Amino acid sequence: MAFAFPHVHDWLSGMGMLDGKVAVVTGAAQGIGLEIARRFLSEGAAVVLADVNAEAAEKSAAELSSGGGRAIGVRCDVTSEEEVNALTQRAVDEFGSLDVMVNNAGITRDATMRKMPLEDFRAVLDVHVVGAWLGTKAAAAIMREQKSGAIINMSSMSGKYGNVGQTNYSSAKAAMIGLTKSSAKELAYLGIRVNAIQPGLIRTAMTEAMPQKAWDEKMTEIPMGRAGEPAEVAKVALFLASDLSSYVTGGVIEVGGGRGM
Ligand code: NAI
Repeated sequence: MAFAFPHVHDWLSGMGMLDGKVAVVTGAAQGIGLEIARRFLSEGAAVVLADVNAEAAEKSAAELSSGGGRAIGVRCDVTSEEEVNALTQRAVDEFGSLDVMVNNAGITRDATMRKMPLEDFRAVLDVHVVGAWLGTKAAAAIMREQKSGAIINMSSMSGKYGNVGQTNYSSAKAAMIGLTKSSAKELAYLGIRVNAIQPGLIRTAMTEAMPQKAWDEKMTEIPMGRAGEPAEVAKVALFLASDLSSYVTGGVIEVGGGRGM
């Protein structure tokens, strides 16, 4: 008699919240982007890990795909329109569609305004704001054809509350909220949702570069009394990428352990 239940592996692999979906994550060589890619992969998505650091993106993709998932690493500087367009097209060529776009690439160039050169102000706006705008535009051009898609912009609580030494970064992260809401309004009728995440203090290379004094000060502002882990941001990205958030667009979710309440 034939066994009535599907093979356990088939059953398990049919359980992913992103089964059959294709995702692009920028800035995915390390940190939050890498954890988002890892989580998406474990939920059944094929993932393109994009980063300006091509070698690191390829290494991370190789590590992820060694577990059996479909992941590739691609060089992309998100400030280049040509490279961003090539990136989203690569997802379609390689895996057949583009269902989820995560604009996560980021840099910091902290200094008080008095000491900050204009080029550092512009560089930070370029990566976050221009980068997310290009990523949204390129992804939406593909998603509008298929009448579905989810776009996620990685903002920051810095864009809401401000931080000494971050006039560039706070401006950029606030602008990403305006971008999220305006593009959500433009794309809603096409079945494309656009949402943003505002992480608080998350333990990555970016924050480990902070002076101890600044780290300790931040800690006193966090009701949960600890920094967040990149995987905890990835869980929220999964919510926004998946059908669980099917009626959520133009939203901003804080992932900050209660900071700023
Ligand atoms: P990270 O520094 O560990 O990773 C950022 C990645 O972006 C790196 O792999 C880097 O090579 C890549 N990148 C930089 N410029 C790029 C460009 N022009 N094109 C493509 N890739 C580029 O940083 P982390 O902490 O993982 O941050 C990820 C995102 O989360 C950033 O947008 C950051 O602003 C945001 N964020 C981080 C927080 C934290 O506490 N770590 C808090 C709030 C927001």
